[in-house]
Amino acid sequence: MPLPDFLTRPLSDTDPQAAEIVRREEHRQQNTLELIASENHVSVAVRQAAGSVFTNKYAEGYPGKRYYGGCVNMDSVEELARQRAKELFKAEHANVQTHSGAQANLAVYLACVKPGDTVLGLDLSHGGHLTHGMKINFSGALFNVVAYGVRRDTEQIDMDEVRRLAREHRPKLIVAGFSAYPRKLDFAAFGEIAREVGARLMCDVAHVAGLIVAGLYPDPVPHSDFVTTTTHKTLRGPRGGLILCREADAKLIDRWVFPGVQGGPLMHIIAAKAVAFGEALRPEFRTYQQRIVENARALAEALLARGYRLVSGGTDNHLMLVDLRPAHPEVSGKDAEEWLESAGIIVNKNMIPFDDRKPAYTSGLRLGTPALTTRGLGPAEMQQVAELLHRVLSSKADPATITKVREDVLALCARFPLPH
Ligand SMILES: Cc1ncc(COP(=O)(O)O)c(C=O)c1O
Repeated sequence: MPLPDFLTRPLSDTDPQAAEIVRREEHRQQNTLELIASENHVSVAVRQAAGSVFTNKYAEGYPGKRYYGGCVNMDSVEELARQRAKELFKAEHANVQTHSGAQANLAVYLACVKPGDTVLGLDLSHGGHLTHGMKINFSGALFNVVAYGVRRDTEQIDMDEVRRLAREHRPKLIVAGFSAYPRKLDFAAFGEIAREVGARLMCDVAHVAGLIVAGLYPDPVPHSDFVTTTTHKTLRGPRGGLILCREADAKLIDRWVFPGVQGGPLMHIIAAKAVAFGEALRPEFRTYQQRIVENARALAEALLARGYRLVSGGTDNHLMLVDLRPAHPEVSGKDAEEWLESAGIIVNKNMIPFDDRKPAYTSGLRLGTPALTTRGLGPAEMQQVAELLHRVLSSKADPATITKVREDVLALCARFPLPH
């Protein structure tokens, strides 16, 4: 009997409704400026691997030790991803199976702390991630989280304060990492503090992993017990997680990923991680990361020149936090996000340290350059982007201004097509 028609025909034939939504999303991505610091546009090769037949297969276990038959190619592709991840980060062991950054962090927590134990992490409202101790996340629900923050005067993390808190609370695990911090972290100092108080150190470098492999950001690997990251931000791979550790902890981590927190690995995503790590090993990847940082500096300077205040005064990575209050006291982050989206500029509202607005409103915007840099925009275009942001934020949502900016955004997007 021949295969039923719908198993072999393209999506646009078999499911025009779903195909139309995909088409609209392609159109949206091509025609908007993506400034969300945690997003990127992957290569055609990464998307091909993510859409490959590896999606069909169960492969519980690890290469050479699977619970299912037929895993020969699963083993090859997972081994390829592991080897490339180790080479990229110069790490002894890599687990490439976690479905996401949050799962990677969960596996590390469970590997080294028990419910009720103390964990020291960066305050969410000062740039930490929800898995670093938010009350309604597993991290805050299961563990006794003590938060460190940034200083009020410098808006930067004060390592003396981290040391003081670590000595006072004797955490079992220290978490160094962020979702919204525009500066460098001193991983060596975190390592010293962890050793002094007998804690283990997890560095969550989800945001800056690409910068790290390019040598543009401090390297956490020599100083930490565990390094976790997502693979889809500056690293420009498929959505997923990665854990790096020493050989001595390899079994512990692997066990806590599977069967600890996950079942079958997403083999199509592991294949796409292998491809993305291969891309990150190429010399062009370093150039790309350099350009992300140059663009972030250029955008920060252009905003400062237009009277905006940036948290901590600027950036030394791929992101910045705009404090809207001095330039536009009446505009919340929520207003700004909505107005900008209607002009085709995609950003996210963000709490700033010591924010006096609630998380649903915020006084800040987080801006990042990885996605625009992938499209080929450079420092000259960052001037233009700053001007477009400024026109919208100063517009009081005036429809004529927004329409005009939308036209300028479309023209800029047309000059820089996405990989497709
Ligand atoms: C620092 C950090 N850790 C972990 C995560 C969680 O990653 P995921 O969304 O893949 O669970 C994020 C995501 O934004 C992050 O910024």
